[in-house]
Amino acid sequence: NLAIAKGPEVFAPVRANARGFDLAHTQTLDEIEKARGVFADTRWQAEPLLAGKAMPEAAVDVINPADHSASPGTVRNASLEDVATAFENAEPWLAPLAERRKVLLDAADLIEENFGEIFALLAREAGKGMPDCVAELREGVDFLRYYAGQATGEPPAGIFTCISPWNFPMAIFSGQISAALAAGNAVLAKPAEQTPLVAYVTVKLLHKAGVPRTALQLLPGGGDIGAALTGDPRVNGVAFTGSTATAMRIRANLAEHCAPGTPLIAETGGLNAMIVDSTALPEQAVQAIVESAFQSAGQRCSALRCLYVQEDIADDLTKMLIGAMEALNIGMPWELSTDVGPVIDEAARKSIQDHIDTARAEGRIIAEMTPPKHGTYVAPAILRVNGISEMQREIFGPVLHLATYKSHELDDVIDAINATGYGLTFGLHTRIDDRVQYVSERIEAGNIYVNRNQIGAIVGSQPFGGEGLSGTGPKAGGPNYLPRFATPDRQTASD
Ligand code: NAD
Ligand code: ALA
Repeated sequence: NLAIAKGPEVFAPVRANARGFDLAHTQTLDEIEKARGVFADTRWQAEPLLAGKAMPEAAVDVINPADHSASPGTVRNASLEDVATAFENAEPWLAPLAERRKVLLDAADLIEENFGEIFALLAREAGKGMPDCVAELREGVDFLRYYAGQATGEPPAGIFTCISPWNFPMAIFSGQISAALAAGNAVLAKPAEQTPLVAYVTVKLLHKAGVPRTALQLLPGGGDIGAALTGDPRVNGVAFTGSTATAMRIRANLAEHCAPGTPLIAETGGLNAMIVDSTALPEQAVQAIVESAFQSAGQRCSALRCLYVQEDIADDLTKMLIGAMEALNIGMPWELSTDVGPVIDEAARKSIQDHIDTARAEGRIIAEMTPPKHGTYVAPAILRVNGISEMQREIFGPVLHLATYKSHELDDVIDAINATGYGLTFGLHTRIDDRVQYVSERIEAGNIYVNRNQIGAIVGSQPFGGEGLSGTGPKAGGPNYLPRFATPDRQTASD
């Protein structure tokens, strides 16, 4: 599982994926508990990290989604003056390729060494449970090492704006930045407004490893700062991960203010489906469904939203599924016994809960659990739908929609899934080889998973990204990603 270098200069990949942490190992758990415990009472203070003088907004509390009485710290968001300062001082990172690689590899090591602080932040700021903390740290570190290994020394695009979501506030944040930096760009990084603290700590570690301040500046803030960072003619490229609607706004902003051809690498939302046919192994399918729909409280772009079960096995499989869902433990992110933590904020909670409440009023609840009263929790629920075409939008939480189909309706199901226009992940459970071949050729989705869950792509071996409304490509963590951060396609008179 090594990062293979492409391009003119061959660079021997140095490592495999990060080793991660085995949560079944008592000694490892003690080690994590000790490292995390150091930060139990820490209150972090984030602010813009610029190459020039910052003039940020007043400090505001960052919310802990599991416990609103225990804020993890404060943030001073960037002002529009700070955006101007960042553009003025941004300088592509023109250090020799070998030096850039070394710095990024050192940063990966530093992040790994500081796992206690990162885990504490992911739990307290983003509501992440322990398995998600481990997976996220691993993915962030993998991105840094993978892109360091992929860099070829092509000239950089120039200034790259990187805008990330709260649901992978360290991994996707680091992935975008490390690709842009490995290619030698100056990066203006804007984390999601809900998760500035872990971004701040990550950028501090990158600076400590040797990334110059002129090459990497942090501008915490919301949509107004994102708009300013993508609506300036000095922008030479944008890496964005978030909702499809925001990607469309950024596309329009770039079209209005920036050079034609300015690349937008957008990884966006999904309406992800899974088909379970009557030959599937029920226990395997149920485990995969529960993980895909409810892990990370359903707050993964890859998460399963609409499950199609072949009618012949639907009653039995649904009973097993309800049992497995009801065995989930809803709890505090930092408790190892927790399977489902909070959703990110009150706006998310209300929007998801309204969706469940509407289904209840319409008599479409198959099963639901009860949320705790503190923090912003939504309890897992399974709702009945006739098909994916009834789903108007991505419900970004622990809600599974279940439909049944008859054997002769398989093509209609595939057509309905494709007709949503999204194309991120898809899952299939069957023991018929020809069906695997047939369905995977017809389904329009970036990542197709067979007889397993459909979340948790691994950098380097499972490049991740969608098509249609789910993203522009190229896939993150794959060999075609980095070249998009190099010299932009420039129109010349001879073209
Ligand atoms: P969002 O679109 O609301 O916000 C994402 C980022 O965009 C944030 O940093 C936000 O401040 C910024 N932003 C908001 N308005 C902006 C504007 N006008 N101009 C520039 N930036 C702006 O998304 P979210 O709620 O943070 O994340 C959840 C969404 O992200 C879901 O739709 C999920 O499917 C998607 N997602 C996709 C992937 C993927 O790889 N395809 C991965 C993770 C999340
Ligand atoms: N890469 C993340 C996953 O596969 C989004 O779940």
